[in-house]
Amino acid sequence: MSGTIVVELGARSYPIDIGRALIGDPVRYRRHVAGHQVMIVTNETVAPLYLGAVEAALHTYRVEKVILPDGERYKTLDVWNRIFDGLLEHRFGRDCTLIALGGGVIGDMAGFAAACYQRGVAFVQVPTTLLAQVDSSVGGKTGLNHRLGKNMIGAFHQPRAVLADTATLETLPDRELSAGLAEVIKYGLIRDPDFFDWLEANMGALLAREDEALAYAIARSCQNKAEVVAADELEGGQRALLNLGHTFGHAIETGLGYGEWLHGEAVGVGICMAAGLSQRFGWLDGASVARVRGVVESARLPTRPPASLGRQRFLDLMAVDKKVQAGRLRLVLLQGIGRAVVTDDFPPGSLEAVLDVGSTPAGQ
Ligand SMILES: NC(=O)c1ccc[n+]([C@@H]2O[C@H](COP(=O)([O-])OP(=O)(O)OC[C@H]3O[C@@H](n4cnc5c(N)ncnc54)[C@H](O)[C@@H]3O)[C@@H](O)[C@H]2O)c1
Ligand SMILES: [Zn+2]
Repeated sequence: MSGTIVVELGARSYPIDIGRALIGDPVRYRRHVAGHQVMIVTNETVAPLYLGAVEAALHTYRVEKVILPDGERYKTLDVWNRIFDGLLEHRFGRDCTLIALGGGVIGDMAGFAAACYQRGVAFVQVPTTLLAQVDSSVGGKTGLNHRLGKNMIGAFHQPRAVLADTATLETLPDRELSAGLAEVIKYGLIRDPDFFDWLEANMGALLAREDEALAYAIARSCQNKAEVVAADELEGGQRALLNLGHTFGHAIETGLGYGEWLHGEAVGVGICMAAGLSQRFGWLDGASVARVRGVVESARLPTRPPASLGRQRFLDLMAVDKKVQAGRLRLVLLQGIGRAVVTDDFPPGSLEAVLDVGSTPAGQ
């Protein structure tokens, strides 16, 4: 199922190319790079691994680069400003193209810079983590963290293309691979039960980084995301289902400080908590909840929140999340494997009860 998937957005439609050795192929860029000036935005970890190949593929353009420090804690306004320093120092015009080379942090920062520089310039996503290949590089959400909340500053800005090179995953740390699998599992749970079955059967192949399995999982994940984004680009409706596990997850990330737990690890726990709450609603039976936990566990992800976050702190953190509308907390829950709904109608005490489950440290 590797190949190309198209995100259908009329005139702003774009391809997601999935396969090996894409990042060094000049043809992949030529179709999507506007103008002659290209700014590659990457970080200190990814640059020594892949910047050379991307630069070589772009040798017919005037290429400059900005190399940012590595980590979620640098996804800030201050660090982001360095991209504009680079663009302005090199006198880049409105017809330039930004290339985001790295994981979701780089994709979000470079994409948001592309949304804002001279009121919007072209950009191409070259995601190099599993999470970025299946999720953050697709769909046009870009942004930064604020001290008081994650991804609180940002814009919608669609890329011209996404190049998901599965060969780049060979250098990804195990923990990052698992974190990406949380988002992959999410697609199966919210809208693709057959994919969930496939994941239960093929998790070993994915963890062993078998190329065919990875390409299949990336393509199927992107297909799901592309369909949701095409139906609801600006998150007025069904796109919110992609936030399964995220309100819980963001509370963990913010509560512990960015970078302590990986985004995908927090989402893995969040998915389990959402399943637990769904069971309290009578929507999911025990066997289904066990399947959810089982698949999260098999991806080598934690299934319980960190003990250090108390119940009240957890509730306070969830209230800051952007899914709170008109003062009510809205959560994505499961009515079955492959069927998700957004609701703000909780039986009294049910949320508190599911948070009580969270008294055991991750991995125990
Ligand atoms: N825009 C969206 O729709 C969206 C969706 C999901 C997540 N996100 C955001 O994505 C971010 C998380 O992304 P992430 O998980 O990719 O984290 P990340 O960007 O921090 O990358 C993880 C780590 O892997 C390193 N790395 C990247 N590629 C590598 C490679 N090929 N080999 C070795 N190391 C490599 C990075 O330098 C970093 O240390 C969060 O900020 C989250 O908010 C955005
Ligand atoms: Zn996510």
